[in-house]
Order: sequence, then C-alpha cells, then structure tokens
Amino acid sequence: MTGVPPPWALLAELTHACPLHCPYCSNPLELTRRSRELSTAQWQDVMRQAGDLGVVQTHLSGGEPLLRADLEAIVSAAESAGVHTQLVTSGLGLDAARLAGLMAAGLRSVQLSVQHADPSASDRIAGRRSFDAKERAAALVREAGLPLGVNVVLHRDNLDAIDAVVELGLAWGADRIELANTQFYGWAMRNRASLMPSRDQLSRASDAVLRWRERLAGRTELVWVVPDYVDGVAKPCMGGWGAVSLTVTPDGTVLPCPAAATLPGLDAPNAAERSLAWIWEQSAAFNRYRGTDWMQEPCRGCPRRDEDFGGCRCQAYALTGDAARTDPACRLSPDHGLIRAAAEAEAEAPGYVYRGPGRSRAESGTNTQRV
Ligand code: SF4
Ligand code: FES
Repeated sequence: MTGVPPPWALLAELTHACPLHCPYCSNPLELTRRSRELSTAQWQDVMRQAGDLGVVQTHLSGGEPLLRADLEAIVSAAESAGVHTQLVTSGLGLDAARLAGLMAAGLRSVQLSVQHADPSASDRIAGRRSFDAKERAAALVREAGLPLGVNVVLHRDNLDAIDAVVELGLAWGADRIELANTQFYGWAMRNRASLMPSRDQLSRASDAVLRWRERLAGRTELVWVVPDYVDGVAKPCMGGWGAVSLTVTPDGTVLPCPAAATLPGLDAPNAAERSLAWIWEQSAAFNRYRGTDWMQEPCRGCPRRDEDFGGCRCQAYALTGDAARTDPACRLSPDHGLIRAAAEAEAEAPGYVYRGPGRSRAESGTNTQRV
C-alpha cells in the first residue's frame, strides 16, 4: 500500500480520429495514428485494471469514440469491472442500432457536444455539416431513456448566444448542460487569437448563466467552466495532479491530464508496459506535481495552495517554459502579465485554422484550411 488515494475517473481517449474539425480542439498538434491505437484486448485490460484500482467512472472520449468498431466490447469490459461508462461524442455515427448495442453492453450516459444553437454557426465552427446529426442523436438518447448531457465549448463566436444555447440544451432534453470556456491547449492554442473572447462578452455570459441557474434550480444542472485567462484566479486543474483522475491516450500513454504529453521529461508510462496501479501510485510522472512539496513561491507559502494546487502545470509550461512555476493565470504569479497581455490584446480574429479534413494531422501532413 502506498497511501495514495485511488482515482475516481478515467478519461479513455479511444482514438484521435474525428469527423469534426473544431478549432478549439485540445488534442495535441500531432495526433496518434489509428494503426498505433491500443487493441480491443488492451482496452479491455485497461478497464479491468481501472475497476481493480477503484475507478468509479470512465469517460469514453476521443476524437470520436464511435469510430472504434469495438466500442461495445470496451463498454462491456468496463461494466463488468464495475466502472460506469459515459460516451463523450459528437453524435455523428450514432443511430438507433448502435445505441441499443451500447446500452446492451452497459452504457450509462451520453455527453453530446454542440458548437452553437444556430445550425449554420454550429456547422461552421465544427468545420462540417453536423448539427442535424447531433439533434437526431440527442432525440435517440432521450427516447432510449439514458441521461443526456450537452456540452458546448465557449469562445468569441458563441458566448453572446448563451440564452439560445441553454434553450437548445433544454429543448434537446438535457439533464445537464455544460458551458465550458475554451482552454488553450493543443490545437486550440493555434486558434487563440480567433477564439479569445472580450471581457465584456464574458461578463454578459456569466450574468446570463446566473439567471439561468436560478430558473433551472433543481431541474437541470448548469455547469459553467470559468475562463482562467480573465479572472486572475488559477483553476484547480484536474482537481490536482494525480489526485482524482487519469487519462489513457489512444496509444496507451497514461497521463495525469490530457495535455501533459507536452511537458518535457515527463517520461509518461504506457498501459501496455506497466500496470495502472503502479502508474498511479509509483510512477515518477504521477508523483512529479502531486501534493504541494514541488511548489515554488508564491504558491509554496500561499493559503490557497491546497484549494487550487497552484493551477495548471501545462499552462505554466506553455506560457513560461517551466511547469513547476505558479500558473500565470493567478494574479499573484510573477508571470501574470503574460496572461493579461493575451486576454487583453485586441485580437484581429484572423479566421480559424482547421485540422486537415477527416484525418489526423499526422496522416495528412500540415494540411490546414482557413475559412
Ligand atoms: Fe493558487 Fe499559487 Fe496563486 Fe496561491 S499563488 S492562489 S496557490 S496559484
Ligand atoms: Fe495539464 Fe492542467 S492541463 S495540469
């Protein structure tokens, strides 16, 4: 026994392949090729080990997890291991037969993404026609009686439509509506100038969320993921490094957070080589920023260090080159000026840079489109 409390959740990134081209995608610039994805048996073993480790819930994500033909077998393995499964999907590729198969395997809930309440704006942001398929997917999930969450990543192009977005979620029958401001990792960093909202937009949206929360209290859960670029407060990223959840990427790399692959020298372990229990409890990668011993000033002496864990390691690295520094999102960070400059810059909205059509960038060279 190591004394490390077990993880609560496992984010299983089953594939990086995706039919959409969202400019805010937080997946890395270089995506994992399909030929390097874990096999069915390897994912089933990951689920068995997750159950043994104490994981309660797994989010089956991607990319688009429906592109894995063996998704039902993976769901079934998780269910047998006592791990609840949530499908995190664009909705493309979900029909009645597929949903029935997934439910028979034990699927417990669905989280559906949509890019905007207006169909043409949603399609434009997603980089392809998709709104109608999402609407059909939502209806299927509700008719099947599964809990439905609707997730909308927010940015300059949809923050002024919060009322319509919440109304859409309600019309689709969502039990939970998640309004998540863009986090600038992976591909999203490439589009930061086009996605960055104004302070006024965020303030109006935040007021609208408060109004909706009052109206919906006790009926529909409304989650608002605060944008840390503007409020001067670091977020407790992932609930703390190696504290709540672990991520398994398509090729089996196991990370304390989805963006951690960018950190130099992390020496991330792989589920094909090591047990999840060893990775969670003993690997250098999961212990590197666990707890508070690794902290530098001002976090080291700060009363908030056990609440926000010094913010996000990946953001600290992306902006300062040192993952152990205080997250520049915090107004107490000596690097806070970097965040303020990015948030306050009058971005020229240069147009989205999309990934290459329908394939991972690794497979399609540096193919990007502007619209
Ligand atoms: Fe959090 Fe560190 Fe900022 Fe204190 S100095 S509020 S611990 S990020
Ligand atoms: Fe990696 Fe925040 S995204 S620690």
